[in-house]
Amino acid sequence: MILLKSPAEIAKMEAASRIVAEILAEIQTRVKPGVETRELDELAEELCRRHRVQPAFKGYRGYPASLCVSVNEEVVHGIPGPRKLKAGDLVSLDFGVRRDGYYGDAAVTLAVGEVSPQARLLMKATEESLYAAIDRARPGNRLSDLSHATQTVVESYGFSVIRQFVGHGIGRSLHEDPQIPNFGPPGRGPILKPGMTLAIEPMTAAGSWEVKILADGWTAVTQDGSLAAHFEHTVAVTEKGPLILSRI
Ligand code: MF3
Ligand code: CO
Repeated sequence: MILLKSPAEIAKMEAASRIVAEILAEIQTRVKPGVETRELDELAEELCRRHRVQPAFKGYRGYPASLCVSVNEEVVHGIPGPRKLKAGDLVSLDFGVRRDGYYGDAAVTLAVGEVSPQARLLMKATEESLYAAIDRARPGNRLSDLSHATQTVVESYGFSVIRQFVGHGIGRSLHEDPQIPNFGPPGRGPILKPGMTLAIEPMTAAGSWEVKILADGWTAVTQDGSLAAHFEHTVAVTEKGPLILSRI
C-alpha cells in the first residue's frame, strides 16, 4: 500500500530532507586523502545533534553507524571504521535523518583526489540516471518508467545497474511501499499520484551487477571487484511534477 502525503506532510519531509542534504554537503568537505571513514560518521552524528534530528540508519536492523561509507567496489552499506581514504578512491556516502516524525534519505558518490576516467564516467552515468528517473516521477506515469529510465542511461554508458537493492517509498518510515528497482521494462506497476514520496537510488557497477555481502553482514561489494557508485534523492510526486526534497 502506497501512502500518499498531504502538502503539510511533504513540507515536513522537505525539512528533514534538506537537513540531510546540508549534512551531506558538510561531510563532503571533509572527504580527503588520509581521513578515516569513522571520522565522517562522527561528524554526521555531531551534525545530527546540532540540527536536533535523529540519524535514520543507526540501529536500523542493527546497522551500527549513522552514515554508510562505501569505497570503490563497495556498493552500499559500508560500515565506517579505521580505513583511511586515499587519492584515487571512489567513495559513496549514504545518509538519512528523522525529524518531526518524517524521514529524509540521500546519497552521493565522490572522488577522493584524482580518480580514473572510468570512475569519473561511472559517477556521471549514475547521477545522470538518477535525474532521468526523477524526471519520470510525474502523475500519470507508472513506477517502472523510473526503473527503465535509470537502466537505459546506465547501460548506454556500458555500465550495469545493481539488481539486489532497490529504491523505496519513504515517509513516517524509512522504507515504505513501493520498492523501486533500477531496471525493467517501462509501463508497469502502480500509476504515480500526487503525494507519493520516493527515495530514488540507482546503484551501479562498472562491471557486472552481481554483489555479495561481506562477513560484517552489511557491506555489499561487486562480485567482480569492479567500481560501484550510488546517488539518491528523496522526491515528492506533485501535480506540477517531481519535487526534489533532499536538495539544499
Ligand atoms: N539509503 C539506504 C536505504 O534506504 C540506506 C539504508 S542503510 C541502513 O536503504 F543501515 F539503514 F540499512
Ligand atoms: Co534509501
